[in-house]
Amino acid sequence: MNEHLSQKIFPTTQLEDADGEGHNSSTNPTMGEIISKRFSRRNFLQGSLAVAAITATVSPVALMTAEKARAAGKSAFSFTEVEAGVDADHHVAEGYNADILLRWGDALFPDSPAFDPKNQTAEAQSRQFGYNNDYVGYIPLEGSSEHGLLVVNHEYTNPHLMFPGLVSIVDGKIKQARLSKEQVDIEMAAHGGTIVEIRKVDGRWQVVPEGKYNRRITTMTEMQLTGPAAGNERLKTSADGTGTKVIGTMNNCAGGVTPWGTYIMAEENFHGYFSGDLPEGHKEAANYKRYGVPEGAYEWANFYDRFDLAKEPNEPNRFGWIVEVDAMDPTSTPKKRTALGRTKHEGAASIVSKNGRVVFYLGDDERFDYVYKFVTEGTYNANDRAANTDLLDSGTLSVAKFAEDGSLQWLPLTFGEGPLTTENGFASQADVLIETRRAADLLGATKMDRPEDVEPNPVNGKVYLMLTNNTNRKAEQVDAANPRAKNAFGHIIEISEDDGEFAAASGKWEVLLKCGDPAVADVGASFSTDTTKNGWFGMPDNCSIDSAGRLWVATDGNNNKATGRTDGLWAVDTEGEARATSKLFYRVPVGAELCGPLLVPGDETAFVAVQHPGDGGDDWSGHGRPSYYEDLSTRWPDFKDDMPVRPAVVAITKIGGGKIAV
Ligand code: FEO
Ligand code: CA
Ligand code: CA
Ligand code: CA
Repeated sequence: MNEHLSQKIFPTTQLEDADGEGHNSSTNPTMGEIISKRFSRRNFLQGSLAVAAITATVSPVALMTAEKARAAGKSAFSFTEVEAGVDADHHVAEGYNADILLRWGDALFPDSPAFDPKNQTAEAQSRQFGYNNDYVGYIPLEGSSEHGLLVVNHEYTNPHLMFPGLVSIVDGKIKQARLSKEQVDIEMAAHGGTIVEIRKVDGRWQVVPEGKYNRRITTMTEMQLTGPAAGNERLKTSADGTGTKVIGTMNNCAGGVTPWGTYIMAEENFHGYFSGDLPEGHKEAANYKRYGVPEGAYEWANFYDRFDLAKEPNEPNRFGWIVEVDAMDPTSTPKKRTALGRTKHEGAASIVSKNGRVVFYLGDDERFDYVYKFVTEGTYNANDRAANTDLLDSGTLSVAKFAEDGSLQWLPLTFGEGPLTTENGFASQADVLIETRRAADLLGATKMDRPEDVEPNPVNGKVYLMLTNNTNRKAEQVDAANPRAKNAFGHIIEISEDDGEFAAASGKWEVLLKCGDPAVADVGASFSTDTTKNGWFGMPDNCSIDSAGRLWVATDGNNNKATGRTDGLWAVDTEGEARATSKLFYRVPVGAELCGPLLVPGDETAFVAVQHPGDGGDDWSGHGRPSYYEDLSTRWPDFKDDMPVRPAVVAITKIGGGKIAV
């Protein structure tokens, strides 16, 4: 989420303004006319169409009587639920191990220096596991579900938790000192991604430091721009006259593993890293405004001109892309695939459609922004990995329009079609991609409540869309796909593409779940009545789908006064009478959010990424004041006085072995 952007402001103030106003000033139809149109039309609708319009906003279980749902809605998950709450430790359901696999600072190579938090260096950090783990993917070696490559994004940094001596209390208020160049360099080395070999030995996962594929990717790693926008004038800088070579990636939130086994890193809130003013009358001004550039949350521009708009005005156009990394070649140059558009990309989950094309689902995580998908022009070749190398350089990027009758259209962002012409300032497909958001505005896409993970479900053929929240949505902006004003807890939409073809140009949708506490009537949550007081959640963010096609949802933002519980991993039934029943499986320590849940093929391991543990602090009575390096709300996972709190990837397995949940 965007709370990490305001890192100069102390974290307790970040929740209030977690994601800003949004930067979408287009007049696309989330407006009053949609809802009034919807209601007036419904009066004229007959029979099944009218029913479809209603079920589009209320899940089937919620439509059942409470009594019937209680009798029939038993969860298909047999584990004993965790008690929701807040404390300094993490908790998993009884009968499972939750092992710490990789912590910030852990060694990834035989020569990695031991983690020494009081004497950290950028050089050491670049050989160690990075900060704030987000996306977690698994690439099997020789088809194994017990030996493979773990790929992990490091989204952002929390200097007040990472660096000693940075925070002081002045007149009862928190003050954070400016970062030194060495600290900025550590931050840059703590961003990016990790590729590391792991192996299961006697039922427990271990890191293989000698793994020949092990690699750190950081904000200093050289990358190549490819696809239709590569080489465009708007991507050229003083350091790169070709418009094809970028140094680094940052704010890599969620991601994906492609069917051909490459690692996808999504560049999300890139605007936060830029500072300074564009030269007067610069032609990128409107473009940058639509993306909120510059936000100036980081101090990198103090030491690196490329993050200063006054000195390097085109640099922000080189971020906000989907990055593809060949994890099987540690010397490969990561590629920023411009064909997939430039947004605040949450992630890029993919699936092979029936017609052989590969479909990537893409959320643009900001209030009132959009859901996209990319369909490759070429088809996937399962027998020749190399044949898929540049599949991501050509295809069709589309944006979703959710209609009030429960139908869905995917509108192509193709130069020369519809409004995407020279009259509207687009000279080529490169312009359409560099200004993806403006192109989508002109097409009339549906403004959503912060699209996070969008995950295709290979078992039931549906697609699950996490919408985390949007408290800025006003009553007159409510629409069928974003049915609550001041949406504090988010919702989940289920999409069914036409003919079960993920590559289809249209489909249907309905709301699977409106999140929040069902015991508070005003919240309007729609969990099944079999969901216990521990089972409900708010702010769905990342998700994974198990081999039975059920949903595992990780949340971001529950650890506050609104819910009285930490974030965690909830198991949600998607089919049958238990649909929309949710159970709490795992919860994080105070201050953390949960990212990257991943059920490894075979479902015998769930990897989860515990991000920014120990952040905040004054919204938990157990600490009651801001948390920072010298006064932490928790020292998870080490609980040692000389070791700060550390983000970590956790491996969850069943004691004695077997599937995580049956
Ligand atoms: Fe990085 Fe959309 O959360
Ligand atoms: Ca998140
Ligand atoms: Ca996220
Ligand atoms: Ca996911």
